[in-house]
Amino acid sequence: MPRTETHVAAGILAPAQADKRAEILTLLERAYWMEMETVMSYVANAAGLDGIRAEEIAEALAADVTEELGHAKAFAGRIKDLYGTPPGSMDFTAEQTYLQPLDDPTDVATVIKGVIEAEAGAIEHYTRIIEACDGVDWATQDMVIDILRDEENHLRTFERYLAEFE
Ligand SMILES: [Fe+2]
Ligand SMILES: [Fe+2]
Repeated sequence: MPRTETHVAAGILAPAQADKRAEILTLLERAYWMEMETVMSYVANAAGLDGIRAEEIAEALAADVTEELGHAKAFAGRIKDLYGTPPGSMDFTAEQTYLQPLDDPTDVATVIKGVIEAEAGAIEHYTRIIEACDGVDWATQDMVIDILRDEENHLRTFERYLAEFE
């Protein structure tokens, strides 16, 4: 449990909000791991894809790695600010079965679909965080809204790619 003796009576850091803070920390930890796994999956798939048709997708994925890593850092920082401890790697459990590099490195459509699934999962989870923060943790909410905007942009970008590949 996070430390609860704080110096402020208002907002999410107030002692009265200890339970809400614990709930938000759990959500933020999950978000952190989602970003870290996405970084791993995008690095591997960007390097794994082959072929002229794959080139632009591989470049887009490689560019997103930087952005997703930035999200992970933002979540870790916010966990710390809420009296939490950013999780260590031993706590990591992989979930992205749909983004494992493929035996056929020219199968771009399957990678694009995997990216869409990852982005959709992030959008769903971050929407939950935004709702959980409403009225009680404005700063986390504001941060996650910014990140949600990025993920919605990623989703739409890869939806457009998919339209071209199908
Ligand atoms: Fe992200
Ligand atoms: Fe994303």
